[in-house]
Amino acid sequence: MISEKMHSTSRRSLIKWGIYGVGGIAIGAMPQAIYAQSNSRGKMLAFNANDIGILNFALLLEELESAFYAAVVSSGKITNSRELEYMKYLGAQETAHVKFLRSVLANQVLFTTEDLSFNSSSLNDILANRDRILNAAVTLEDLGVHAYNGAGTSLTSPIFLLAAGSIVSVEARHAAGVRALLNRPTTEPDRDRLISDANLNSTLNPFKGKAYDELYTPKQIVAIVNSLNILNNPIGGTLVS
Ligand SMILES: [Fe+2]
Ligand SMILES: [Fe+2]
Repeated sequence: MISEKMHSTSRRSLIKWGIYGVGGIAIGAMPQAIYAQSNSRGKMLAFNANDIGILNFALLLEELESAFYAAVVSSGKITNSRELEYMKYLGAQETAHVKFLRSVLANQVLFTTEDLSFNSSSLNDILANRDRILNAAVTLEDLGVHAYNGAGTSLTSPIFLLAAGSIVSVEARHAAGVRALLNRPTTEPDRDRLISDANLNSTLNPFKGKAYDELYTPKQIVAIVNSLNILNNPIGGTLVS
């Protein structure tokens, strides 16, 4: 389902979001945590439209990135040593982001890493070869940039806003780095965007087309996450409804 042209495939997949089934059995060398959870749909992740919900939703994206790069490194499909080092480097930073957000949220964390259930079948599709892996990485990293930018206007806690702002710039660097490996433009061109101009939220995007990296709503982020079909947990709550 996920091809080398991840960006265009994802756009097509968006049309189908909401109709994906639960994934199959692990068929490759997956990290134990992912393999062990591959058969369960996982608990509902509910994010409400408040600071706690927003930062927990950001935490989910960091968890996805962290699990993704761990799986990439374990897959053995990145054979170029420089690229493999970069995947490890990004994975370490995503894991640091997970720890960072969990520490900022403290007792307001809504789910544990162990609560997450990954669709190992879809993940293995992505892990089939280097180009699929790197294009999926671009999708995840660009998604993070759109998500954090989109969340910024809704956060009221200065500390949470500071935390989100200190991460979004790193995600943009990640996106640029992986894009460079693929000889894709380092800044996401409008034509690569998974949310078209017509579907951009006008309140969030008064400067549409002027500075790139348009802002996505949490609901749009969930649609794209669902299109990747790598997370089994249902996502709900007023933030994404
Ligand atoms: Fe991150
Ligand atoms: Fe990242």
